[in-house]
Amino acid sequence: MEVIHSNLVGWGLGLRREHIPDILAADRGSLPVTWFEIITENYLGIGGKQCNEIAKIRSLYPMTFHGVSLSLGSIDPIDVNYLKALKSLAHVLQPTIISDHLSWTRYQNRTSFDLLPVPYTEESLAHIARRIDQVQSYLGRSICIENPSAYVAYKNRDYTEGQFLQEIVRRTGCGLILDINNLYVNQANLGFNAVETLLSINPSTIAYMHIAGHEIHPDLTDVRVDTHGVRVNSEVEELYKVALSVCGPTPIMLERDDNIPALEILCDEVRELKKLAREVSKEFRVEREELPLDLGVICRGLEPIHAAFFNLLDRKSFEISELVTQNGMASVASGIKVYHDAYHARLREALRGTFPCLAAVIGWEHFGTICNDYISLTQFSNFNIREIGRDLPEYLYKRHTNYLSSCENTLLGDVARAEWAFVNLYDAPDCTSWKSEEVLTEFSSEDISDLVFKFRPHQLLNLSFPVMPILDLFLEQGVIPPPPDQGHSYFLIVREDPSGEILRYKISGDEYLFFNGLSQGRPLYEAASSIPPEQVVSELLKLFRWGVITGVSVT
Ligand SMILES: [Fe+2]
Repeated sequence: MEVIHSNLVGWGLGLRREHIPDILAADRGSLPVTWFEIITENYLGIGGKQCNEIAKIRSLYPMTFHGVSLSLGSIDPIDVNYLKALKSLAHVLQPTIISDHLSWTRYQNRTSFDLLPVPYTEESLAHIARRIDQVQSYLGRSICIENPSAYVAYKNRDYTEGQFLQEIVRRTGCGLILDINNLYVNQANLGFNAVETLLSINPSTIAYMHIAGHEIHPDLTDVRVDTHGVRVNSEVEELYKVALSVCGPTPIMLERDDNIPALEILCDEVRELKKLAREVSKEFRVEREELPLDLGVICRGLEPIHAAFFNLLDRKSFEISELVTQNGMASVASGIKVYHDAYHARLREALRGTFPCLAAVIGWEHFGTICNDYISLTQFSNFNIREIGRDLPEYLYKRHTNYLSSCENTLLGDVARAEWAFVNLYDAPDCTSWKSEEVLTEFSSEDISDLVFKFRPHQLLNLSFPVMPILDLFLEQGVIPPPPDQGHSYFLIVREDPSGEILRYKISGDEYLFFNGLSQGRPLYEAASSIPPEQVVSELLKLFRWGVITGVSVT
């Protein structure tokens, strides 16, 4: 197995979509950063414009992958589909480092979309170490894990934070992404000792450090929340200097995930970090001490903890409070509330990002209520948070409320269905279409009716209301027109590559049935029952012309 802890040098920045045009336009060497870290999940299994841009950046700069979905602490099996997608993205982009968090997100095939804390027990350590081994063997290379921030600490504990990190590294050969902000947040919230953690870690196992800003919770003033939404706090800058004095010169990367400012502002922050690093002189070094490990080998079981967390997210119970304890500033109630609120808020925000027009049509308050109902009735298992919107259109069609008529629900369902179609195609995987129908001449005339066609990613829409003009007006002018009268319309929507343009074709109801049958893999003779025989060839030619067909075979 290839062991890669770090051959990075210098200063990194978390790559965010908003900055991609500026990064591509910048002359090499003009930015104070020398490498970029991407959030792995944003690029797994997708194609289109975003993929092309990221490949261009990779051709100019070293890149690292940072994931949030490995769920190393989970008792669910490791998601092999996720690992497959990760391995194939790594094959394309050749990252210097692949990392994820020392946390868990999955339980009974559901995902929390939040990094939940692992207990620092022997049982948990052995379990996580086994899973890191599995991941490393599958990928054929070592990974790095990041120390996460947390808002509750478990009562039962066999290791300190630093001992736990160091022991995992020792047992698995993985490396560390040491997040300075998380060390500080955990010290404040949970009473962990950040310097003790630094002293427990072998500096040669740190691939690089993370640094970011955190905020005091607006309602729960005893809790510092790891928002990555503000510039780095002065206390964290001080801890960074201590970390450098303990660990020696180490590459560092600035993370920013919320309230994202212009690239130049983040570059200025990186320049500030460089100045801080220069202030740390060698004489300032803290002497390292060996900390004894106190191994209490007791298996108390991770299952009750995981079940209690998901019951909390589902608002069913607060039994997690029995399992955690207060040592720092954050009370148990506050810490629990952060997790409890974050799940619904994160999912609502993701739905608003996917369905901005729907949210504007409904109004934010009602949209929030609808999201809460939808979230509480649906269990999400995909690591890609955008996927939580997949069933929202169907949910809206079936939804019964006392303030909306079924007609209004159908209109909302149509708006959602159309928005989902566009979002879904924007970063659908790339594939090559057969633009020429000449392939049909390769089949004998008696085979033609048995042909089965393979479609590229596309969307066939059957709408009860003419909602496309609503979407167009909203996207172009931010205006929502009055609700239209009912009237059926049908569309085939597909992305044209390499331009990435989403093309929309208005089709008839009969064409909809025909194309839908074909796209579901029905043979031509069966799918074509909805259209007159003399139209079959001309309809097939349309599909070739529109670039929808990617393969033809005989049943
Ligand atoms: Fe981090």
